[in-house]
Amino acid sequence: FDENKFRDSLINWFKTEQRTLPWRDNQDPYRVWISEIMLQQTRVDTVIPYFNNFLTKFPTPEALAEADEQEVLKAWEGLGYYSRARNLQNAVCEVVEAYGGIVPSDPDELGKLKGVGPYTKGAILSIAYDLPEPAVDGNVMRVLSRILKVEDDIAKQSTRKLFEAMVYRLISKSDPSSFNQGMMELGALICTPKSPSCLLCPVQEQCRAFSEGIETELPVKSSK
Ligand code: ADE
Repeated sequence: FDENKFRDSLINWFKTEQRTLPWRDNQDPYRVWISEIMLQQTRVDTVIPYFNNFLTKFPTPEALAEADEQEVLKAWEGLGYYSRARNLQNAVCEVVEAYGGIVPSDPDELGKLKGVGPYTKGAILSIAYDLPEPAVDGNVMRVLSRILKVEDDIAKQSTRKLFEAMVYRLISKSDPSSFNQGMMELGALICTPKSPSCLLCPVQEQCRAFSEGIETELPVKSSK
């Protein structure tokens, strides 16, 4: 497996084919954070107007920290999973009080904030701070399970750890942001769950699942 070729093909594809999305306008860690929390259980098309409205109402960590919880929940209305909004405001208050309003770029500090799990942490560190950290969600596990023919159960915590270890190896050290976002974008646009568009895939040549015709059989997921 040619890791350099995989990285280059993925990043070149992402640079030309990525969607224009409001959270890709700049690398502001606060914006990246909000977008990743909203995108966790909600589709991109739904998130876009909520993201824009939220950033207009609460443009900075200070603004969100000072806001009434009711006002924050109202801006979240329709997105569901309201604990996401409460945890976010709680964590942003911590950032304002403990870190002067600067989202930490230290993995351990960032990971201690409420609602910031391994995926969100890796997304912020790579997209906002250009650090080579994995951001492994369901999309990324689907892509990697197919490329490398990994048949482990993705419902298991240990499998996610395995994918994180793979990404530590594979990730571009010079452009970790485009690498991680490229993986997410490939999962969203090409390497979809039911009928992936393998003929348009930038890494088709390197995909074990494609070469064996088993792409729709991966990933393996138990319904435990
Ligand atoms: N899904 C999760 N994070 C995303 C991002 N940054 N861009 C597009 N889709 C995503």
